[in-house]
Amino acid sequence: MLEVTFLPFPLLYTQRLVLRQITRQDAKEILNLRSNDLVMQFIGRPKMTSVQEAESWIEKFDISLAQQEGINWAISLKGNNTLLGTIGFWRLEKEHFRAEIGYLLNPDFQGKGIMNEAFEPVLNYGFEKMKLHSIMANVYPENKSSIRLLEKNGFQQEGYFRENYFHDGVFTDTSVFSLVMDNADQNITN
Ligand SMILES: CC(C)(COP(=O)(O)OP(=O)(O)OC[C@H]1O[C@@H](n2cnc3c(N)ncnc32)[C@H](O)[C@@H]1OP(=O)(O)O)[C@@H](O)C(=O)NCCC(=O)NCCS
Repeated sequence: MLEVTFLPFPLLYTQRLVLRQITRQDAKEILNLRSNDLVMQFIGRPKMTSVQEAESWIEKFDISLAQQEGINWAISLKGNNTLLGTIGFWRLEKEHFRAEIGYLLNPDFQGKGIMNEAFEPVLNYGFEKMKLHSIMANVYPENKSSIRLLEKNGFQQEGYFRENYFHDGVFTDTSVFSLVMDNADQNITN
């Protein structure tokens, strides 16, 4: 069984980015992100409508972090603390050493390789620190940039589900992508 601890919160760095803990001070940016039509078009969740909702969302993830059930990083540029996006692991299946990755980026910052840059330390953290064996992503088949991002990072499509999501009165297809750790690199016990 996978045993994870997210304490102390792991700060991650790349050439341009700092990946840090999300706090209540980020509520306005979380609302901006999760109420944006472009960002939410392939997410399949209701759009946020108030700062209070954003604060509850942050609180929910704080609890999940404290209970070692998931982790979410704020993506910000070095030298500017503003949250531009989020990335993290949720839906941990500890008995299978598996988790789902989720990520969102402010449209003003899309197409600049930012999420691709954030992926590297997050995937490394998942495999090396959390000791995951596989990481999955659930994607709408029309979400070309997300699929491109996943494939660039070695994810392969493993499943295609017809109309398995119901959102906003519509049934939608989804694809499951996953990245499996190279066995030679892993040393786990049951
Ligand atoms: C998906 C998302 C995180 C990508 O972030 P990003 O920082 O813009 O991605 P990157 O700049 O690293 O680029 C991703 C790749 O997709 C490509 N791409 C972008 N739009 C594309 C499109 N419409 N069709 C095909 N490829 C596309 C880019 O060219 C790039 O590939 P390249 O480096 O080979 O040129 C961002 O678009 C986003 O937040 N979308 C809304 C939320 C979302 O859908 N999250 C994922 C849920 S599964």
